[in-house]
Amino acid sequence: MSFNENLFTGKTILIAGAGKGIGLGCAVMAAKYGANVIAVARTKNDLDKLTELYPENITPWVMDVTSDAFYKRLRELPTLDGLVNNAGINRVGAMEEQSSENIDAVIDLNIRTLYKISQAAITPMKQSKYASIVNMSSQMGFVGSPGRTLYCMSKHAVEGVTKAMAVELAEYNIRVNTVAPTFVLTPMTEPMFEDETFKNFVFNMIPLGRLAKVEDIANSCTFLLSDLASMITGTSIKVDGGWTAH
Ligand SMILES: NC(=O)c1ccc[n+]([C@@H]2O[C@H](COP(=O)([O-])OP(=O)(O)OC[C@H]3O[C@@H](n4cnc5c(N)ncnc54)[C@H](OP(=O)(O)O)[C@@H]3O)[C@@H](O)[C@H]2O)c1
Repeated sequence: MSFNENLFTGKTILIAGAGKGIGLGCAVMAAKYGANVIAVARTKNDLDKLTELYPENITPWVMDVTSDAFYKRLRELPTLDGLVNNAGINRVGAMEEQSSENIDAVIDLNIRTLYKISQAAITPMKQSKYASIVNMSSQMGFVGSPGRTLYCMSKHAVEGVTKAMAVELAEYNIRVNTVAPTFVLTPMTEPMFEDETFKNFVFNMIPLGRLAKVEDIANSCTFLLSDLASMITGTSIKVDGGWTAH
């Protein structure tokens, strides 16, 4: 099963946080379907490996997506058809014990930076006929979960700002949606699954009885970025195996 191999031919798609995990999966898929992919992360080695896979399609930007230099470079692109706001972090811990540093870090990357990246992308996206922004949310943007109130707050904000952006940017034909995954094994989550109790809790919460694969998330992202989703804006695709259905 796959999309047409020319799905993204002629399109430029920027993926913020493309070196590992879900962002890497999205970058690989966009390149496979012919996009010119601007892959952004801080670790050069990760982007070198990605570029080796698709040298014709990947343009690596070794940059911090929280930096003004990044926003300037993004704003000055001649055109942009797709943006995946994927960079995000989690700081798991009981609400009573969360430090100000953790609170600031999660709000800064998961909310403020997503806003700043999207803001900078508007200028080049206005030059595209059909632009699409995909904000990487989470099932935690719809529910609460123990030790995750801080992360849930940030992802609920992602869901909210997505709707607001969709309404405001519709006049430029920029669509804005989220993909909301359940747990996926990535460098961010691997340490969490060393805890057997947590692992059992997660598997019990997912009616389909498995974790999501990076490809499950990248498929939904690809669909929303593509013109196949040209009437879809301001909504979310939950790739959660049914977690939020009960
Ligand atoms: N994994 C899950 O189970 C899961 C479930 C639901 C939602 N999500 C969401 O999916 C997104 C990706 O998660 P993941 O698990 O794939 O994360 P990950 O494994 O930690 O990968 C994150 C990627 O983003 C890059 N990045 C982080 N901060 C950056 C910055 N300031 N500037 C540039 N690049 C940056 C990292 O590269 P460098 O560190 O080299 O910069 C890395 O390539 C997040 O928004 C997360 O909340 C994940």
